[in-house]
Amino acid sequence: MLTQFVKACHREIISQPPVWLMRQAGRHLPEYRALRDQHDFLEMLTTEELIVEVSLQPWRRYQTDAVIVFSDILLLPKVMGMNLMFLEGQGPKFRKLIANEEDLKALKKFEAERDIPFLTGALKKIKKEIGDRAALIGFAGSPWTVASYMLKDPSTRSGYLLKSCLERLVQETVPYLQAQIEAGAEAIQIFDSWGGNLKAKEYAEWSGSYIKEIVQALRPSGVPCILYIKNSRHLLKEMLAAGPDVISVGWETPLEETKKAAEGKAAIQGNFNPHILMQSKPETIAQETQKMLETMKGYPGYIANLGHGVLPKTPVENVKAFVDTVQQS
Ligand code: CP3
Repeated sequence: MLTQFVKACHREIISQPPVWLMRQAGRHLPEYRALRDQHDFLEMLTTEELIVEVSLQPWRRYQTDAVIVFSDILLLPKVMGMNLMFLEGQGPKFRKLIANEEDLKALKKFEAERDIPFLTGALKKIKKEIGDRAALIGFAGSPWTVASYMLKDPSTRSGYLLKSCLERLVQETVPYLQAQIEAGAEAIQIFDSWGGNLKAKEYAEWSGSYIKEIVQALRPSGVPCILYIKNSRHLLKEMLAAGPDVISVGWETPLEETKKAAEGKAAIQGNFNPHILMQSKPETIAQETQKMLETMKGYPGYIANLGHGVLPKTPVENVKAFVDTVQQS
């Protein structure tokens, strides 16, 4: 049975839009923080039972229509052999960055059975638990966004080394996502969080064309692809040109503009402002969410979500107000 979520990805009009939140699993939840007190982040990313538990935490609390697997876009370069460190307060960093072609060649070719059994195992268990009550989402970073964490010298972030790095990431990201699909992911999201740093003219060359290759390689699976960019306003045409089933836009991108650009071409996901979600009273959040739903009413293929991830200080009552407003609409 197709979930409402997957139907929306395929641009069906459904009476009530499905809803989930980027970064719904994570630090805004007290039950996540309690687990994090006992385990470091890298251990959490690579332990099957912890992935299952953290992915399901937001679903148990809010009954979102989709569950995104708890993982990170930097897991792929990590399993290819880059040494990922997670320093408290500083976020993730690689110990040694890619400085030349030799460094790139030294990285291992991705092999799902060897490299991510904890992730594929977790996906299977999560799907078993949620059944058809929610859709399961797998993900990866875009080559451009992942490369921007891997490369050393900013001057290598254009030109030959960047190109080889992007090509290599396409080769490895396709089987990485296919393994997630085989393990039960019913939709794939590609996070191009830093794509918005590129001008419209540069986007296709450095990011969009590589994403397009990934989207096309996944086509035969029939699993829909969602493309997310944070600062997306100047890139709507370019996002669509990459060919995803759904475009997920940042909160500074007006939905009216997004509708005009995407109508007949792609479903839309987004784009509630995460700062409003964090700062406002639940009543205000409900009102603002209604406005967003009103704007998207009747659009073929709409998924309610934020324009970026849930901020760590967001009260759970606020997230609840957002989800409930969509689900009672
Ligand atoms: O959405 C979800 O609930 C699934 C989990 C998820 C995480 N990271 C877990 C995480 C997803 C989809 C990501 C994607 C990701 N990771 C992106 C793209 C999305 C975006 O936010 O723009 C990026 C750029 C990363 C890399 C990354 N991981 C950064 C920059 C950081 C530090 C900043 C931060 O938000 O903490 C992380 C750490 C991270 N990834 C945490 C979580 C729950 C926090 C870890 C902790 O302190 O416990």
